[in-house]
Amino acid sequence: MTAAPWNPLSLPSQKGRTIVVTGGNAGIGYFIVEQLAQAGARVIIASRSEQKARAAMDAVTQRVGAVDLDFVPLDLSSLDSVREGAARVNALGGFDVLINNAGITGPGKERQTTAEGHELVVGTNFLGHFALTALVFPGIRPGGRVVGLGSLSAGSTELEADDLYSEREYKPSRAYGFSKHAVHGLAFELDRRLRAAGDSRASLLAHPGWASDKFTPRVPGINDRPSRIPNPLPMPQGKDRGAWPIVRAATDLAAASGTFFGPDGMGALAGNPVVVTPPESSADSAFGAVLWDDAERRSGVTFRV
Ligand SMILES: NC(=O)c1ccc[n+]([C@@H]2O[C@H](COP(=O)([O-])OP(=O)(O)OC[C@H]3O[C@@H](n4cnc5c(N)ncnc54)[C@H](OP(=O)(O)O)[C@@H]3O)[C@@H](O)[C@H]2O)c1
Repeated sequence: MTAAPWNPLSLPSQKGRTIVVTGGNAGIGYFIVEQLAQAGARVIIASRSEQKARAAMDAVTQRVGAVDLDFVPLDLSSLDSVREGAARVNALGGFDVLINNAGITGPGKERQTTAEGHELVVGTNFLGHFALTALVFPGIRPGGRVVGLGSLSAGSTELEADDLYSEREYKPSRAYGFSKHAVHGLAFELDRRLRAAGDSRASLLAHPGWASDKFTPRVPGINDRPSRIPNPLPMPQGKDRGAWPIVRAATDLAAASGTFFGPDGMGALAGNPVVVTPPESSADSAFGAVLWDDAERRSGVTFRV
């Protein structure tokens, strides 16, 4: 008997599961939270703004009814904040899924840095998540998983691993592409280490394709403002649908560690979530090993699997 195709409109019940979503206050993250909460999960929004997180919790409650939501303060561009946020997550006493969704999607024209002096886009999208994942990993229950937010932009940005933090050259799109190569690299390296250790936990990756605010249902208090991403394409996918591959990676327990989900249509820009192939450079084990050691050194956080 073949399994029924995955249906984003009818998720398996998530009752009894606790899921942490970074950047769950806005954009795709908001809809990840809403869809998982609707399916019964307890969802923790890790956000740098308590006000925005509370607005998201109110909006989810209004749209899908009484749900179990909480908030943890987290600014990924500061490793002190990451340590404090991780301590709050660890105080939950165990959880099932970490979704590393937050990210700088519109990098500045000039190179900026995190609180510790690392290039801001890679420092936030990758290094902050590396440290967070390392610090909360012991609290992920057996059979639990980490989901990274990948992007097609890794495929369109040639990886220069010796300049990941744009010390030689800075261009906004290059820094963003590098950050997503690093997010891919972490997901696949974590997968390799988990399997080598015989650990029951999993590392998966998902990308939303192209999900534009322009086609996203209005949610009062969440996305009233005009689009922050220029959208030159006639592309009918909002951030609600962009959330589907990520929600699938978090909930499809038949999907093994190392699986990468993305949309199946319009040249992988939109559609239903299916298994996709990463760029070779992101998935390369030599890149993953160097990336991991360098991230431990830069963050001062040892990630033991
Ligand atoms: N939209 C797309 O087409 C697309 C395509 C490929 C990949 N992605 C990835 O999908 C994820 C979500 O994208 P999106 O389109 O939903 O972006 P978005 O609407 O700009 O939302 C980004 C989220 O990340 C949070 N964030 C940014 N910097 C942070 C920091 N220093 N600490 C904590 N949170 C921070 C934001 O919080 P604030 O509200 O406080 O700013 C917000 O919640 C990102 O990882 C992005 O790279 C998106």
